[in-house]
Amino acid sequence: AHSAFSTKIRRYDAESLREAALLIRAGEPVAAPTETVYGLAADATDSNAVAAIYSAKGRPSFNPLIVHVADHAMAEKLAHFCPQAERLAERFWPGALTLVLPVRQDSGLSPLVMAGLPTVAIRLPAHPAMRALIRESGRPLAAPSANRSGAISPTRAEHVLASLNGKIRMILDAGPTSEGVESTIAAPQADCIRLLRPGPVTAAMLEEAGGLPVMTGKTGAKIEAPGQQESHYAPSKPVRLEVMNAEKEEFLIGFGLMPCNVNLSPDADLREAAANLFAALHLADASAASAIAVAPVPNEGIGVAINDRLRRAAA
Ligand code: TXA
Ligand code: MG
Repeated sequence: AHSAFSTKIRRYDAESLREAALLIRAGEPVAAPTETVYGLAADATDSNAVAAIYSAKGRPSFNPLIVHVADHAMAEKLAHFCPQAERLAERFWPGALTLVLPVRQDSGLSPLVMAGLPTVAIRLPAHPAMRALIRESGRPLAAPSANRSGAISPTRAEHVLASLNGKIRMILDAGPTSEGVESTIAAPQADCIRLLRPGPVTAAMLEEAGGLPVMTGKTGAKIEAPGQQESHYAPSKPVRLEVMNAEKEEFLIGFGLMPCNVNLSPDADLREAAANLFAALHLADASAASAIAVAPVPNEGIGVAINDRLRRAAA
């Protein structure tokens, strides 16, 4: 395939940060880490820059993007915060929570970011590299996960390179991400909190902080996360779930003490398993095995997000 750019990986420091911010200001997407996964970031106020994200990822344009901000003041300029949203932001920002809120008329955001919706997804990440990039470029940054659309999400700079080599100019490398699965997406409503994507901030945490019931599932059709297609995070091989004994041709991803090819967490620690999940899927995908098997993972806490991603990888 034809490569438009040579993609360079740069260790995150003051100089690479400055260079990345210059690219952003010139309308170019740059890959940078958050504490969840690496994002492909571009100026959310510049339609050409946002279009370049969709094109590098091969992402359908009806799937809206998350806008990343460096502080709460920046978020208030983009969206209307109801008291419920204020409470959740106060409690979980900076962190792995994305809030879907009514977009402000005067937000200045490119309409491509919202893909026609009256709402915008906003996140204040905790990772210093992404926050510094927002500050240094002086723009809110639209950033989906930095992988080709539908593929496994990247938790290391090398994952980004493997997926987007030749499609972007630069990857800021700050090592493996700590959380490992994408942010929780929640839409606060008058009488409940809609959970659109499970993630590191669990339903129980949202309920406890918001004092409102958390609703999941397909009921509120108009505020679903449009990117939540059944097949996603998909390796190039068949994936079988809840497997205790793998077939000979299968690469086994284990959980807890067991013989396997790679273990998400020998101590059966769900946070560790989440942090290792996508790297394990990348390894399994790159292995000589013709199929992938995954051991059962308890469906509690961040295990709900792990199982959500595994189900989509297997779909
Ligand atoms: O952890 C994360 O959230 C990472 C890092 C880079 O921040 N980003 C990420 O972005 O996972 P992406 O594009 O892979 O997933 C964004 C999800 C999609 O499912 C999209 O449909 C949903 O957010 N979304 C965006 N705007 C929305 C809106 N206004 N209403 C409902 N869902 C929305
Ligand atoms: Mg993604």
